[in-house]
Amino acid sequence: MKQIRLGNSSLKVSRLCVGCWSFGGEAGDYWGAQSQKEVDTLVGEALDRGINFFDTAFMYNNGASEVSLGKALKARRKEAVICNKIVVQDREQLEDYETTLGNSLKRLETDHIDLMMIHWPVSDADLLKANLEALLDARRKGIIREIGVSNFSLETLALAKEAGVETVANEFAWNLMARGIEREALPYCNENRIGVMAYMPLMQGILSGKYGSIAEIPGVRRRTVHFSSFGNPECRHGMAGAEADVEKFLKGLSELSRKTGISCGTLSIAWLIAKGAAAVIAGCRTVAQLRENAAAAETVLPGETLSALDDLSRPLLEKLGACLDLWQSPDKSRIW
Ligand SMILES: NC(=O)c1ccc[n+]([C@@H]2O[C@H](COP(=O)([O-])OP(=O)(O)OC[C@H]3O[C@@H](n4cnc5c(N)ncnc54)[C@H](OP(=O)(O)O)[C@@H]3O)[C@@H](O)[C@H]2O)c1
Repeated sequence: MKQIRLGNSSLKVSRLCVGCWSFGGEAGDYWGAQSQKEVDTLVGEALDRGINFFDTAFMYNNGASEVSLGKALKARRKEAVICNKIVVQDREQLEDYETTLGNSLKRLETDHIDLMMIHWPVSDADLLKANLEALLDARRKGIIREIGVSNFSLETLALAKEAGVETVANEFAWNLMARGIEREALPYCNENRIGVMAYMPLMQGILSGKYGSIAEIPGVRRRTVHFSSFGNPECRHGMAGAEADVEKFLKGLSELSRKTGISCGTLSIAWLIAKGAAAVIAGCRTVAQLRENAAAAETVLPGETLSALDDLSRPLLEKLGACLDLWQSPDKSRIW
C-alpha cells in the first residue's frame, strides 16, 4: 500500500491504519476475545501489504492491546509506525510521567512511540496544557517521536499550539453517519497541516451493511447519539436519537451499493479518503476484513458516487448538527 507523510510530521504511513482496540481482548471486553494467534496473523499480513500504521491506546483492554501489538510486531517493529494514546494525568501523576511512558514502552516491547496522542481532552485547561508540556519534554528525551491529539476541536487545538506543540495529527470520529468534524475542525486541521485520522470509519461495523435493521445492531454498538437512549442501558446521552433518519440513510447506502456494485464498507472508507482523511483507522477483526478495508482505502470513487454519498448522508448531518462527542448530549460534550 502506498504510504503518505502524516500531516507536518516525519512519519510515512499507510492510508489504512489498523485499529488495535480489540487486540488482547477477552470475553466480556468491549470487542470480545481476540487471541494472540489471530493478532499475529493480522499484523503479519498488514506489514506484508505495506500497511505499517497501528493505533492503540493505554485504555484499550487496560493495556492488553499494547501488549498484544508489541508481541505481534516483535522483530518487525522497525517496519511499523505506532500511534498510542495516553489518558490525561493529574498533577501528582505528572511528576512521574517518564515512568508512566516507560511502562507503555515495556508493554509494547519498544524503546520509543512514533506518535503519542492525548486520548481525550479534559475541561481543566491548565491541566491539559501541563500534559501537553509533559509530552513535549518526552519528545525532547526521544521517548516519543511526534505529538498528536485525539478528539480535540478548535479551542483545544489552539491550546496545544499555545503550549508550543506542533500537532501532527488529530483523531476524530468521522464517517458517513458522523460528519460533525467537517464544519470547523477539519478545515482548521487542513490549513495547519494536521493529518486527520478518521476513527470508527465503519461506525463499528454498521456501515459494512451487515445489519438488516436497527434492531439487529447489538446494544453496545447503539450507544451513540444516533440511537435512542431509552431502553438501552449501554447509552449515556439520554436523548431520543435519530433512528428514522439512520434507517433511511442505511437503506439508501444499500441501494447505492447495489447500483454501483461496490460494498457498503468500501463506499464508506473510500468516501473518507476522498474527503481528505489522512488515514482511516479501521478496527479489523479478521484478515478478510483487513484485506477488504485495505482495498477500500485505495479505491477511487467516481465523482457522481461521491456526490450521491454526500447527498445521502446530509440529512443526518443536519439532524445531528456539528455533534462531535458521539456518546454524550451536546451540553455534556467532552470535546471543545
Ligand atoms: N481516538 C478515539 O477516541 C477512538 C475511539 C474509538 C476508536 N478509536 C480507534 O479507531 C479504531 C476503529 O474504530 P472502531 O473499531 O470503534 O470502529 P470501526 O473501525 O468503524 O469498526 C470496526 C468493527 O467493524 C467490523 N468490521 C471491520 N471491517 C469490516 C468489514 N470489512 N466488513 C464487515 N465488518 C467489518 C469489525 O467488527 P465485527 O466483525 O465484530 O462486526 C470491527 O471490529 C479502533 O480500533 C481504535 O484504534 C479511537
